[in-house]
Amino acid sequence: MKEDLKRIIEAAEQQILNAKSLPELLNLKSSFLGKKSELSQLMLKLRDLTPEERPAFGKAINDAKGVLDNLITEKQESLKSAEIDRQHKGSSVDLTMPGRRFNKGSLHPLTLIWREIEDVFISLGFEVAEGTDIEDEFHNFDALNTPQDHPSRNLADTFYVENSQLLRTHTSPVQIRTMERYVPPIRIISPGRAYRNDKIDATHSPVFHQVEALYVDENVSFADLKDTLNQFVVKMFGAGTKSRIRPHFFPFTEPSAEIDISCVACGGKGCRVCKESGWLEMGGAGMVDPNVFKHTGIDSEKYTGFAFGLGMDRIAMLKYDIKDIRVLFDNDLRVLKQFRNENR
Ligand code: DAH
Repeated sequence: MKEDLKRIIEAAEQQILNAKSLPELLNLKSSFLGKKSELSQLMLKLRDLTPEERPAFGKAINDAKGVLDNLITEKQESLKSAEIDRQHKGSSVDLTMPGRRFNKGSLHPLTLIWREIEDVFISLGFEVAEGTDIEDEFHNFDALNTPQDHPSRNLADTFYVENSQLLRTHTSPVQIRTMERYVPPIRIISPGRAYRNDKIDATHSPVFHQVEALYVDENVSFADLKDTLNQFVVKMFGAGTKSRIRPHFFPFTEPSAEIDISCVACGGKGCRVCKESGWLEMGGAGMVDPNVFKHTGIDSEKYTGFAFGLGMDRIAMLKYDIKDIRVLFDNDLRVLKQFRNENR
């Protein structure tokens, strides 16, 4: 039996050392140490020995098992590290190379303003409504009470697409789309792009941005409009900023007004930014014209509403002291990088 043991160990050692892969090694492990292995069979033969012989022989078998077990564990480690070496050699990864640099991007100043405006109005109880850049004449003009011969409908002002479709000339059509779908109370703002066939200069761009606001309910008054504007400018430009309204005309509001805010550069004293007037133009406003309500099926006897539209590019330019609107559309990295720390 001693001979058997010796033979088994020697054969097993050879095979374990020659194993070429982990699966092969695992097979060997079960054939040398498993229940059906020769060593386990030898254990059964202990019964045939005398009680005196048994302990020594039992120990010899267990020692043999221990030796093979260690051998297998060592071989397992060396096969594993050989595998890792092989993988590294096969790939082109050079772990000593310096890493690739990732430049941190920054949000565009208009995106920052856009988000800030949304936050301010949401805090005042408004929801954000979305429209589409391509509109039809009905929503962009007719439903907004704009007469057929109004100059803004002119080809020289409006980009037409086809079949009376056009690039919206303002964000006001979102008012119509909202009133068509919802019943009052309605409190929405709608920020977005608008398009006009304007010559590009320091203050004009054929693509620009507006934010529209609409509040329709029972007993909405001009005082609500003034108060909302005041709260907005204070939250946007800081305490002490004032708004004022001047009589004006828009087809979709009656009465209509233009909105100014006190100059954010000089605080209203008069400077070059406000052309010494102390005020800056911001957009238009007014009480929703009953004709507009009629187009959307809202009862103008029961409800009143205010609306306004502000220039978002203008707000961004004032807030970030940008003198030329083209800066907002050039995507000059030297400009954009300066907004890195403003990102939220
Ligand atoms: N849509 C106007 C424009 O683009 C701005 C405006 C004026 C919007 C008065 C309004 C408003 O909602 O009530 O010039």
